Amino acid sequence: MVSPTLAFEDIQGTVLRRRPERYCGRYILYRVTNGAGARRMVERILPHVTSAANWDAPKPYTVNLVFTWQGFKALGIPDRILNSFPEEFRAGMAARAEILGDTGESAPEHWVRPLGSNDVHIGVVISAGSEADLAEPIRIAMSAYEGIPGVEPIYRIDVGVPSTGREHFGFRDGIGSVSIIGSEVEPLPGQDPVMPGEFILGYPDETGSVAPMPQPEVLGKNGAFLAFRQMYCDVGAFRRYLQANARDKDDEELLAAKMVGRWRSGAPLSLSPEKDDPALGADPLRNNDFRYYEDDPRGLKCPLGSHIRRCNPRDGLTGSIVNVNRHRLIRRGSAYGPELPADQVQDDGVDRGIVFIFMGASLIRQFEFIQQAWINNGDFVGLGEEVDPLVGPNNGHGTHTIPARPIRRRLTGLPRFVTVRGGEYCFLPSISALQWLSRGQY
Ligand code: HEM
Repeated sequence: MVSPTLAFEDIQGTVLRRRPERYCGRYILYRVTNGAGARRMVERILPHVTSAANWDAPKPYTVNLVFTWQGFKALGIPDRILNSFPEEFRAGMAARAEILGDTGESAPEHWVRPLGSNDVHIGVVISAGSEADLAEPIRIAMSAYEGIPGVEPIYRIDVGVPSTGREHFGFRDGIGSVSIIGSEVEPLPGQDPVMPGEFILGYPDETGSVAPMPQPEVLGKNGAFLAFRQMYCDVGAFRRYLQANARDKDDEELLAAKMVGRWRSGAPLSLSPEKDDPALGADPLRNNDFRYYEDDPRGLKCPLGSHIRRCNPRDGLTGSIVNVNRHRLIRRGSAYGPELPADQVQDDGVDRGIVFIFMGASLIRQFEFIQQAWINNGDFVGLGEEVDPLVGPNNGHGTHTIPARPIRRRLTGLPRFVTVRGGEYCFLPSISALQWLSRGQY
């Protein structure tokens, strides 16, 4: 297949390019009550927006700009254009709570304000290799609205990588990722390259055709949809659950790995089912190089219901009608909040968790599908009502089946370890779309 040529200089960088292993970032959300003011702000930030072409140089930081549907409205975009966006984007994440399984403590009425209200309009996503390098993009983002009536920052969250280099539950993260055809990034062993139209609008997708996109083309092409999601992690509850249900310390590690599908070091159970192998976990040439269908059809190594096997079943659904490559997403997760000290098993009341940015060409087919059909449901692998043991809405009665010989193990009484604090559906326009938006000639 001929690789499509991607317009790197027009595509906002975060879709195609990864951040360094250590980084810090700030996400700032703005409310707009004056469309002309917001257009002026976009115009000011525009020269600083990082494309996929200049991601690694010359600046030591990256700036990306996103809009909610309410934001496009506040900018003064007319209905004929607003209506060309898909329904789920127009509705916003809070309105899709039932589909996403955001119920109980995760329901929008408990979200941190202003998330899930109609007040979030523009988001600036900043990242840098160090705190010192973060100062300049923050100054750019803050000065962009200065003196402009009708634009104000209403939310900000600082993110990064904890000192352990792992997310709060103690796992190395960001290993399983998508290889995009045409991105000029070599696929790692085990990565099946996916057509760019699955993630960026205006290119052929896995069906071989170019999907319809928001109109006019200058607004849609080279853009991507983005789900912003803040999730609290109850680290104390996770540690207590492991202690209470494991036979000994080694078994605690095994149970944790059986929930995620990888040991805390990142080593996949599929390649190292009996014990952790930190060298394997750290080796990008090996730590993704596995499949499920032939090597582990029953989940004896990596349980069918584990987090990574649910979120990316790889070839494990061969023979079913599901085409896994139509349900991949680009994932940029960052920790927020301080670490819970290693020896503590009680929550200290401090907010901590992950802010995720999921990107793709379709919120409904990618983010919502994974959330609804794979994370919050077990039917697709014959597990009935079992949901994701780590991130699913367990309520104290959750179960997780761990296939084993001679008899399987089953974790019971799983509580909720992750609670949604809020989120927004956004659109990440191309650089030329940002220019078009700032000119206001709609
Ligand atoms: C607080 C919530 C979450 C935590 C703590 C978490 C943690 C993890 C960890 C530790 C891994 C293994 C490392 C890796 O493969 O990169 C992982 C993988 C992954 N997660 Fe999550 N995750 C969370 C929520 C989600 C959600 C909501 C989704 C999707 C809607 C998701 C999608 C994925 C995907 C696609 C992978 C890679 C699977 C693969 O390619 O093998 N995660 N996650």
